[in-house]
Amino acid sequence: MATPLRILTIIGARPQIIKAAAISHAVRTKFKGRIQETLLHTGQHYDNNMSQVFFDELGIPGADIALNVGSGSHGAQTARMIEGIETELKTGKHDVVLLYGDTNSTLAGALAAAKIHIPVAHVEAGLRSFNKAMPEEVNRVVCDHCSTWLFCPTETAVTNLANEGFDLKNAGTATADKPHVLNCGDVMFDNSMRFAELAKERSTIIADLGLGMNGFILATVHRDNNTDEPERLNAIFSTLLKMHHLHGLPIVLPLHPRTKKAMEERMDPALARELAAAKGFILAPPAGFLDMIALESHAKLVVTDSGGVQKEAFFFAKPCVILRPQTEWVELVERGQAVLADADPARIANAAADFLANGAPACPPLFGDGHAAEAICAALLS
Ligand code: UD1
Ligand code: UDP
Repeated sequence: MATPLRILTIIGARPQIIKAAAISHAVRTKFKGRIQETLLHTGQHYDNNMSQVFFDELGIPGADIALNVGSGSHGAQTARMIEGIETELKTGKHDVVLLYGDTNSTLAGALAAAKIHIPVAHVEAGLRSFNKAMPEEVNRVVCDHCSTWLFCPTETAVTNLANEGFDLKNAGTATADKPHVLNCGDVMFDNSMRFAELAKERSTIIADLGLGMNGFILATVHRDNNTDEPERLNAIFSTLLKMHHLHGLPIVLPLHPRTKKAMEERMDPALARELAAAKGFILAPPAGFLDMIALESHAKLVVTDSGGVQKEAFFFAKPCVILRPQTEWVELVERGQAVLADADPARIANAAADFLANGAPACPPLFGDGHAAEAICAALLS
């Protein structure tokens, strides 16, 4: 039997652990014996409900290597990761580094591997907000330009790469200078489909919170500008509170630790008191993945600044108000499934009122066929 391809998968932040579940599952089933995966967790996210819960719920084997870098400034955190990843890569045990998304863990993996000539495979390549004030935009551009395989989730992502000079016709052996660009679909779609049934069986969050189908608004907020700029933080939360009163619908908001901290440190105290007093405004701890899927599939409307949650709203046919000035998932906005509202109270309130009254238009699937992970494994082997 041929020697298996040895992949070092680097994860660190919540969405990367979730995304890694799809390929990790394919490696252990259909590609068993042909691909061997080692998981390196940088430790960017470390609270149980930001990390371990996803290994447990999504059946991902534990991390083989844990760097435990923890939180820090961009430079300090990324530097600690690069050093740890480089040390691991120098063992000579890995043929390819597999990276997800656009976090500091992604950037660290790309820089560490490319500098010592270990090929990089980037899942979620080609996404662009065209806003370099976002740390994620810097991370994804650098990672793409260090990569040997660029696995795009959408045609828009492929086009973005072509516009940056990537040659879509490269064939033969992929290299960092002649990378291969492929649209394989979205591993998050694979996951949502695979875990939706399990969420129905196991999640009790809808009953626990006393919610009903189409009976509440689900919100998440965690982008650095929305949490760190008090004006935006106050505008978003005061608008959500008004929507709760106006529409008489509960709002469920699982709080990212960054947002919890920002609310304690930067929120207008009067607003914080009003939120605490509003019975139907449920500020919950970060949800596990099965609970999150249950919430998304039961909500009437999703309001979010998360990349992943925007798409999951679409997977479960829920309209979405995006708390950002732009999105990488432009298809959702073009097809009327989502509206960009930034942190603007009027735009948020109007988009929400419209979606609550009229729903979102029907739309065909946009993110592949639910087998992105298998397509990526097959491409790496070929
Ligand atoms: C990171 C990613 C972002 C992604 C998000 C997913 C970068 C630059 N940003 O943002 O792209 O959308 O993850 O959730 O990589 N904290 C805890 N416990 C934890 C993790 C974080 O308390 O387990 C707190 C710390 O105070 C930390 C803050 O959250 O300083 C921010 O964490 P960090 O990983 O730096 O950035 P995120 O905002 O989570
Ligand atoms: N998610 C979760 N619990 C939460 C919030 C999000 O399981 O409380 C999941 C969500 O379903 C999606 C992923 O985390 O799969 C999105 O991650 P996040 O919003 O942290 O980051 P982004 O996608 O914006 O990078």
